[in-house]
Amino acid sequence: MGEVNYGEDIHILGITTVDSQGLRKGNIIDIETAARSIDECLHKLERMAGVEISNALVGYSGSSINTLNNRAVVAVGNSNYEITSEDKARVLQSARNVALPLDRCVVQTIERQYIIDGYDGVKDPIGMVGSRLEAEVTIVIAATAAVQNLQRSTGKIDLQINKLVYNSILAAESVLLPAEREMGVALIDIGGGTTDISYFEGGNLLCASVLPVGGDYITRDLAIVLKTSLEDAAKIKETDGVAGPSQASDDVMVNVHNLHGKEIRQVSQQVIADIIYARVLEMMEMIYTELKQFNCLDKLPGGIVLTGGGAHLAGIEEIMEDYMDITVRSGIPENLRGVQSDISRPEYATVIGGLIYSGKNIDISYENKHGVSGLLNKVNYWLREFFG
Ligand SMILES: Nc1ncnc2c1ncn2[C@@H]1O[C@H](COP(=O)(O)OP(=O)(O)OP(=O)(O)O)[C@@H](O)[C@H]1O
Ligand SMILES: [Mg+2]
Repeated sequence: MGEVNYGEDIHILGITTVDSQGLRKGNIIDIETAARSIDECLHKLERMAGVEISNALVGYSGSSINTLNNRAVVAVGNSNYEITSEDKARVLQSARNVALPLDRCVVQTIERQYIIDGYDGVKDPIGMVGSRLEAEVTIVIAATAAVQNLQRSTGKIDLQINKLVYNSILAAESVLLPAEREMGVALIDIGGGTTDISYFEGGNLLCASVLPVGGDYITRDLAIVLKTSLEDAAKIKETDGVAGPSQASDDVMVNVHNLHGKEIRQVSQQVIADIIYARVLEMMEMIYTELKQFNCLDKLPGGIVLTGGGAHLAGIEEIMEDYMDITVRSGIPENLRGVQSDISRPEYATVIGGLIYSGKNIDISYENKHGVSGLLNKVNYWLREFFG
């Protein structure tokens, strides 16, 4: 939760986390339970800030997500060739008009650039003069059921969705430099159930896909091999786990409880690292395959920026760097007002990016002097986009 004052940086009022229930691989599998998780989180925030929350910017991810790049052309309608908002809406509508299977839908259209009479690089064509208007867009696609289940969950607790934004677009706001986004950078978020892989170029998202594995994949394997509970396995990974065997020591011994939590064995850090490494390598291979599909492996002057709780795993940056032969840095949101130092963590990149994203959108409505109506237009725009 944050406060936006015109002309000022965002002031963070509160941040909190709860265990996420009712989700699998980033998709909601139990609407009621997921709704309860969201509600619990919102209540904690409300108590923290003393403000009632009725609507929110909602970030989404999930293994059904992918992107398509498309373009469209329209003739400018006006006789004096001044491009209007109707022309822009028409070209966007046409660009997002792609044939999809019945169970998939367009969740978001990202305007990459406009081309007016052959001149490219235009960010906003309204008011410019030309006869032929082209739009290049990136379309984020997801399983219709996944998006509707998210809406049902927020609907259960009467939380109004201001806008639904793909998580990586939000995280990019808090951890990517404008120059990186312009020249080419991959943002990889290793969460619990999913890994989001996104490529930004020319300032915007160009490609994205979401793997159905994340840090919990490693935890589960540790639990199975060490014959311990998921809770213990997560604790072991987070305190004594390292991403690869070369980073582990034979001298460090780790206590492992059995499934009943009673008996304790000692296992060397080396053994634990071997188990983790097998899964880490597998994930590296999957990530590499996606980046290759994006056709961006040799177009990454910004390298790879790693976010999500999985970025905490000791040594993961080095292993990724070696595997991909691309520089890797961890994406930590920094330089924010009202931020206690414990907020500067890679797993908060998305929510903090969400505040920055919201702040930018609210600024637009203030500048329009339309206040609320400016904001409502945006909401309607999203609803049109989703249902239209
Ligand atoms: N110190 C640590 N070392 C290794 N892994 C860690 C550490 N801290 C957290 N993690 C892992 O990070 C993962 C959770 O990350 P995050 O909070 O970004 O996920 P999420 O956003 O809730 O999930 P998703 O993005 O998949 O919906 C868990 O698998 C957790 O074990
Ligand atoms: Mg996440």
